[in-house]
Amino acid sequence: MWGDLSIMNEISRGEFIAFEGIDGSGKSTQIRNLLNRLNDYGIRCYETKEPTDSPIGSLIHQIMTGRISADNRVIASLFVADRVDHLLNKTDGICQKIDNGITVITDRYYFSSYAYHSVDMEMDWVIQANSISADILRPTVTVFLDVPVKKALERIERERFHVELFEKEERLRKVRDKYFEAFEKLKSEENIVIVDSSGSIEEVFENIWNSISQFLIL
Ligand code: ADP
Ligand code: TYD
Repeated sequence: MWGDLSIMNEISRGEFIAFEGIDGSGKSTQIRNLLNRLNDYGIRCYETKEPTDSPIGSLIHQIMTGRISADNRVIASLFVADRVDHLLNKTDGICQKIDNGITVITDRYYFSSYAYHSVDMEMDWVIQANSISADILRPTVTVFLDVPVKKALERIERERFHVELFEKEERLRKVRDKYFEAFEKLKSEENIVIVDSSGSIEEVFENIWNSISQFLIL
């Protein structure tokens, strides 16, 4: 009898879904859609992103906006620290949410580090530096929203200031290639789905849903 009660009281763990893609690939748009769909299924969800809003995340933002300068290795290491804090912090850490049965959806996780930082440094170093996060929590599934670089930039351009477009285009092309290199490298350890994100918002979402529902208990 006691055994039965303990089973009834046990909370099943939440899932952990990571969205990845180059800037402007549609991650935040589709995360919103996924949250709504999961809520329709009565699944409790929490949305989060990296870099975080923590003190470490705000240091990263200051470096990315050029207010502070730092070596590439320092930047990559700050992302490592931000990620571990994202997982473990006592206020709203991901691990705690998942243990409480909440499904967590994050806009970027360690594949962002593998892709963005390995443009300037060895990918294996970046993977090794992030192994602490991989050991703590691997995503149930990583969803990569794939869109041609030009299209992603057109989408961003519509709402942001004109950036040095050529430089950005070159860099994002390399980042996209690095994502694929990382997926190939880690395909035996990770659940990765690649979704074409160049269609309409509704089409892309239905493709995401069809690809990930196999990983979820609905
Ligand atoms: P990310 O979070 O990956 O940077 P966003 O979701 O913010 O991308 O999308 C970037 C811009 O593109 C936003 O203005 C958004 O409304 C628009 N957008 C997103 N998905 C699509 C789509 N499938 N078709 C057209 N525009 C889109
Ligand atoms: P941000 O403006 O917060 O989000 P987004 O552009 O996705 O809307 O910028 C995040 C930037 O940080 C993005 O260009 C990718 C980069 N980044 C890294 O370089 N390494 C990482 O580990 C992560 C998580 C992000």
